[in-house]
Amino acid sequence: MSDTTLPQHAQIDWDDQGRPHSRQYDDVYFAINEGIDETLHVFIEQNHLRQRYAELAPGGCLVIGETGFGTGMNFFCAWQLFAELAHAEARLHFVSVEKYPLSRDDLERAMRLWPQLAPFTRPLLDQYVAIHPGFQQLSLDGGRVTLTLMIGDALEQLPQLDARIDAWFLDGFAPAKNPDMWTPELFAQLARLSHPGTTLGTFTTTGWVRRALIEAGFAMKKVPGIGKKWEVMHGVYGGAPAAPAA
Ligand SMILES: C[S@@+](CC[C@H](N)C(=O)[O-])C[C@H]1O[C@@H](n2cnc3c(N)ncnc32)[C@H](O)[C@@H]1O
Repeated sequence: MSDTTLPQHAQIDWDDQGRPHSRQYDDVYFAINEGIDETLHVFIEQNHLRQRYAELAPGGCLVIGETGFGTGMNFFCAWQLFAELAHAEARLHFVSVEKYPLSRDDLERAMRLWPQLAPFTRPLLDQYVAIHPGFQQLSLDGGRVTLTLMIGDALEQLPQLDARIDAWFLDGFAPAKNPDMWTPELFAQLARLSHPGTTLGTFTTTGWVRRALIEAGFAMKKVPGIGKKWEVMHGVYGGAPAAPAA
């Protein structure tokens, strides 16, 4: 009998340089060599986070939503920049959905790849216990940073979320390998949780993904990529598309 209180962990193979590869999806968690640079370019830059962090007023809060928490690298990079640029009384809320969370041992192993992020990875690891299906909220940096992890399939978890997301990181493996993370139903959830001006960054420029995001109300634009990715995309939510005239 399966125990519904335990998540199904990610099945990971490690290459000879210590990088994780998903056996479930036959895909890499992040690009070879360009991991952090790609995160900065695709998710931080396309969502203008440097400027938005710097402009946060005391007491202000920026809410980032992510599809695919994986090793948490995007979260650590977003937090590191927030710590560097945001007002001491501003807050960051990072909400991420993950179907197959890494086991604690695998997460620790992944974190060894980025010793420079240790001030951010260690506090998360300390709280990365009893990760279970459903929502869990981790409070970090004395409450200044909140991480909400939604453990389960994105299409089951996102409809239960009540939030107002300012910036999205779409990071659910390549659409060809994992089409479930790029469906119109999922994008309708992103739209529901967005407000006019909510931004989005993703590494994929696949045509049907782009068209489905536009259908959901995001104005999408291809921009120059990084490393092996020639182009990536950013988007801005324009509000719910007008209903067709009766
Ligand atoms: C490219 S990896 C994410 C990398 C991650 N952002 C990082 O910084 O390591 C994609 C993630 O999406 C998760 N995923 C794939 N399909 C999913 C689904 N239907 N619902 C929720 N998570 C899913 C995978 O388990 C994997 O951890």
